[in-house]
Amino acid sequence: MSIKIFESANFAENVTDLILDLINDTLEKKTTCYFALSGGSTPGELYKLLSSVSKVELVDWKNVVFFLGDERFVPLEDKRSNYNMFCNTFLSNISANFLPKVFPINVNASNIDVAAKEYSELIKEQMNAKDSLPVFDIMLLGLGEDGHTASLFPNDPAVYETKKICIGVKHPTDGTQRVSLTSSVICNARNLIFLSKGKAKASIVKEVIEGDAYPITYPSRIFVPVADKTTWCLDTESSSLLSK
Ligand code: 6PG
Repeated sequence: MSIKIFESANFAENVTDLILDLINDTLEKKTTCYFALSGGSTPGELYKLLSSVSKVELVDWKNVVFFLGDERFVPLEDKRSNYNMFCNTFLSNISANFLPKVFPINVNASNIDVAAKEYSELIKEQMNAKDSLPVFDIMLLGLGEDGHTASLFPNDPAVYETKKICIGVKHPTDGTQRVSLTSSVICNARNLIFLSKGKAKASIVKEVIEGDAYPITYPSRIFVPVADKTTWCLDTESSSLLSK
């Protein structure tokens, strides 16, 4: 496991450069980089920077294929939609000749389980993973204050789903329905990149990185068996309680 700590003011810039390097390292080895996007507020500034004039030409985006690591079952134009956030922060800033492929979930599916199954089939088809778990090159993940990641929430049996690629879940407090990649797919990625910023995350960052709770308590701890391919990108505030 690698822990990278950045000054808060330079967090987005540093993590963006790390992600750009990872995409280009991937594209040196293979023709397509499969990238699972995180939702939430932290990655928004990264997506903006990735599509900024100074950075956007550093990657041949036509060879990057984006999926949502998790998504809310709301209309794509809804401000809660992670796809909508990615459109507003990244896609709307780059010209047509740079456009990567981005696959939203089908928010018009009859229900969340149908949406999850359809997204699983789409991922299998696009990533030639008919008979095996898909292997994302980059799995970008956030960390909730309750220890969730993607839409795998504490005390939800979905945390231990290993057969499915995507699963339909319900947010424990606001009740929104969501589609999430499962822990087996998340841990099957070549590179897991966790992002966490700000003082409010300091306590959960310490629990998840240095504690010994089971993933049912803190789902972000699914990284432990694959710590060798996991990078934690923190700022000085969110890392402030870690043992030096
Ligand atoms: C989502 C995310 C979720 C998020 C964390 C952290 O759809 O909400 O995927 O897992 O990454 O809740 O969110 P912040 O970056 O807003 O703290």
